[in-house]
Formats: sequence, structure tokens, C-alpha cells
Amino acid sequence: MEPSKAESSTVMAGFTAVANCEDIPQGGGRPYKIAGKSIAIFRVQDRFYAINNICPHQGASLGKGKLKGYIVSCPLHDQQFDVRSGFGPDGGGYCVVRYDVKIHDKQVWVNLQPKDWFSGE
Ligand code: FES
Repeated sequence: MEPSKAESSTVMAGFTAVANCEDIPQGGGRPYKIAGKSIAIFRVQDRFYAINNICPHQGASLGKGKLKGYIVSCPLHDQQFDVRSGFGPDGGGYCVVRYDVKIHDKQVWVNLQPKDWFSGE
């Protein structure tokens, strides 16, 4: 049974629709600009992840990077980030913030308040 509109708005409170699920390729990502933020959304095995799109090294778009498993490589100099956490693949090095994601009505919704890097899950 589909949730009512009131139930949906409660469930999605604090989240903003950023992309259509079908626009993000399986095993890939896309960059988006929304509310003054640059966010990269990735799709791995039909789960979606969001991190800051801007590489902290020299500002390339991580959403245009190559994704292998959960690791995205920056298109400029290959710095790597785990899309689940924003950390480097070994937990160190450069990091980017990550954002909580929900899927609703075939859209990717993102909480634009970044998660604390160290809060984990
Ligand atoms: S700009 Fe991303 S690694 Fe250099």
C-alpha cells in the first residue's frame, strides 16, 4: 500500500528531491547542483549514495569519476573516495562529506545537511 501524501511528507522531511533514479547509471554517478551545493550521487547495486561533488585536491567533479565497487576515482588525478562514507578507501587521505539519501517515488532525495564525517553508521 502506498503511503498517503501526509505520510510521505513526514517521512521525507528534511530531504530534497535531487534526481530521478533512472538518470543515474548502475555502477556510475552524476553530479548535481542544488541549493548552492554541488553533490555527486552514485548508484551501486540499486542503492544510492551522495557525497560532496568537489574533489578536495583541486576541485574536479567526483560525479564524473569512474566508480569501481564503492570506490570513485577522481577524473583528474585518481584520488579515491568510498561513496558510502566519503573517506579514502583505506580510511585516510582526502575526505569529502557524505549526505543521507532516501528513495521515494522513483526519485533520489538527499538531506542537504552533511553527515558528520566521524559519526559513521
Ligand atoms: S582534483 Fe581530484 S585528485 Fe586532483
